[in-house]
Amino acid sequence: MPTGRMPGVRGDVREIPHLRPPVDLLEQPPCPFHANWSAATSSAPDGWSADMEVVILPGPDDCGRVVADILARAVGNGGAGTRPTLGLATGSSPLTAYRELIRRHREEGLSFAGVRTVNLDEYVGLPADHPESYRSVIRRELTAHLDISDDDVHGPDGSASDPLVAAREYEQQLRDGGPVAVQLLGIGANGHIGFNEPGSSLTSLTRVKTLTEQTRRDNARFFDSPDDVPRHVITQGLGTISRAQHLVLTASGAGKAAAVAAAVEGPLTASCPASVLQLHPHATVVVDEAAAAALERADYYRYTLEHKLPHQPF
Ligand code: F6R
Repeated sequence: MPTGRMPGVRGDVREIPHLRPPVDLLEQPPCPFHANWSAATSSAPDGWSADMEVVILPGPDDCGRVVADILARAVGNGGAGTRPTLGLATGSSPLTAYRELIRRHREEGLSFAGVRTVNLDEYVGLPADHPESYRSVIRRELTAHLDISDDDVHGPDGSASDPLVAAREYEQQLRDGGPVAVQLLGIGANGHIGFNEPGSSLTSLTRVKTLTEQTRRDNARFFDSPDDVPRHVITQGLGTISRAQHLVLTASGAGKAAAVAAAVEGPLTASCPASVLQLHPHATVVVDEAAAAALERADYYRYTLEHKLPHQPF
């Protein structure tokens, strides 16, 4: 059996029973997230290497245009014979981008032929055709208005008889489907992305999570009564999300200011799941002025945006 030392601990940890790790960390298979992370330190999954970029714009419509630019570029980059995968979020934050993509499809001929989409998460217990299931929401808000076939719209099966199994199956489906070109994210007031509530492992994979009461209250606006908001979800994990080639988080409004500041400028911590973006080699945070209000380096982000090189895209 291999032996190991813990930093700051004299002697072999295996000889000190109360310091022995609960699982044999030295014999664990390599963590997929760390594999991704170490690959990222040499070159980003899409060949990109950049710091987290923070883009501050006047309002939600401006944010929507920039997010739509990024998604449209990913679709364009697919090229003939390839099927780019876009990772989609629900909620209010992505709506301006979705409306802009629909406009470009209708008025400018932007085609999504061959594009696959994967949802971040799904409520447990809602039938797929429930108007508030995330499958229905994504269809209603975006894909039904584009040239994307329903068969190419994927998400966890929240109505499965065993949600734990459905979560594992979705994780496998995501792995089999290849890399997500762009994963769009909103952020909860408590710093969640997907439904990785505070305390979620930064390496987590797709699984069932229990929503906090705050998240249930925040989402009650979509339901007839707060009691109708499901308690459980299947969500991509933070490790799963981090496998995407480009993470794009968008937020607007003062209610998101504290969470955005914690994610971008706070410590890397499971207490603010969105802080995992700090580890990613290609992350773009697109926020309006109100959501940027608590950022200490806001002036630097504005200065950087103003002085972006002409051939330096997001
Ligand atoms: C939705 C999702 C959530 C939301 C977040 C923000 O698929 O995964 O993380 O993005 O709760 O919601 P809104 O945008 O409604 O404020």
